[in-house]
Amino acid sequence: MQRAMVLPGPDDGEMEAVVRTMLDDHWVSEGYAAPNSTVYPWQWLWDSCFHVLVWSALGDGDRARRELAVALAPQTPSGFVPHMHYVRQPGFHEDLWGRPDDSSITQPPMYGHAVAELVRAGEPVDDEVVERATAGLWFLLQGRRRDPSGLVRVCHPWETGADDSPRWDDHCPDGFDADRWRSVKNRLASTIETGPDGEALANPVFEVAPVGFNALVAFNARELVTVTGDDELAAAADQLVDALAGRWNEDLGTWVDAGPTADGSGRVRTLDALLPLLVEEDARRADRVIDQLLDPEAHGGPAGPTGVHRGEPTFDPDAYWRGPVWPQLAYLMVRAVAPRSPESAEALTRTTVAGAWASGMAEYWNPDTGAGRGAIPQSWTGLALVLARLSL
Ligand code: GLC
Repeated sequence: MQRAMVLPGPDDGEMEAVVRTMLDDHWVSEGYAAPNSTVYPWQWLWDSCFHVLVWSALGDGDRARRELAVALAPQTPSGFVPHMHYVRQPGFHEDLWGRPDDSSITQPPMYGHAVAELVRAGEPVDDEVVERATAGLWFLLQGRRRDPSGLVRVCHPWETGADDSPRWDDHCPDGFDADRWRSVKNRLASTIETGPDGEALANPVFEVAPVGFNALVAFNARELVTVTGDDELAAAADQLVDALAGRWNEDLGTWVDAGPTADGSGRVRTLDALLPLLVEEDARRADRVIDQLLDPEAHGGPAGPTGVHRGEPTFDPDAYWRGPVWPQLAYLMVRAVAPRSPESAEALTRTTVAGAWASGMAEYWNPDTGAGRGAIPQSWTGLALVLARLSL
């Protein structure tokens, strides 16, 4: 059976050389690494935050700092940080966003973790960057509408970074179909309600409060608090953690999104829906999730954790966001698991690094074979180097 296969991983020197070449090739003189030079030439917010960790692992603190500063530069006075920045070619997507230089939606605020990791690595971080990161989190915590559950709503599936996750399938008429979903996503961009600077505040047609996104807001706020000691932000993160606790479903063994999909696709067992593990305090729940991450009948795979539970009818090991391994999610899972079970974190790391290597450092890959999918190579897969060097 393919799933029992053990994929060979690289040694540290081989991995470092490949990651360095890839990031250098993708570096854009305006100050960021493109996720991929041809498929994704613009700056994406959460990609850049992950690149900061990769630059740091490569020993290049200057590029790490520069990329983070450039990602936060288009922040509006409200604190909103756009998910895409067209610094290379202003005006490129103005028709879609109504703003010339950047988008009107955001992405998971991974800048909290990026700042904290730089500080832990002994890299100086500018006060302005820390202030911008703090304001970005407050925008999400106060500027965004909340669901009655207490969770923050997103304005578009793109804001979660998990564009075609089966969690959004209820919003695709007649069930998921990649082409139909593409048109729905474009239409959903036109129903966003914006603030004075064009920043997304709400979307009456997509009132989903996803547990994965909220877990990343709480986690990043707590990460930033390790640097700033800001009690108010810590209290706001705690409130979100309490709200997340109420979304756990014991029968399914996952957290359920709040809002209109709560009784439908918001319950599909996906890896991004297990991100509340990052802030979970209940040891029994945590163990239940960790078991699934390694169970070959659930999320376990020789090339890393599957993006969708194998028992879901929608699971497809090769389809965009519907089953493959995503390196940024695998990385976050390792960070969530490590404090509780170093052995499990080590197993997740080994399989993910082997998968990244087998895939040619792809954007995402098949969890059983490591066959690369999407853009190849993709900068955030440099997280494999960060993972391989974590002391667990
Ligand atoms: C895709 C992914 C998104 C990512 C972007 C650039 O749109 O779904 O999460 O940020 O590509 O890599």
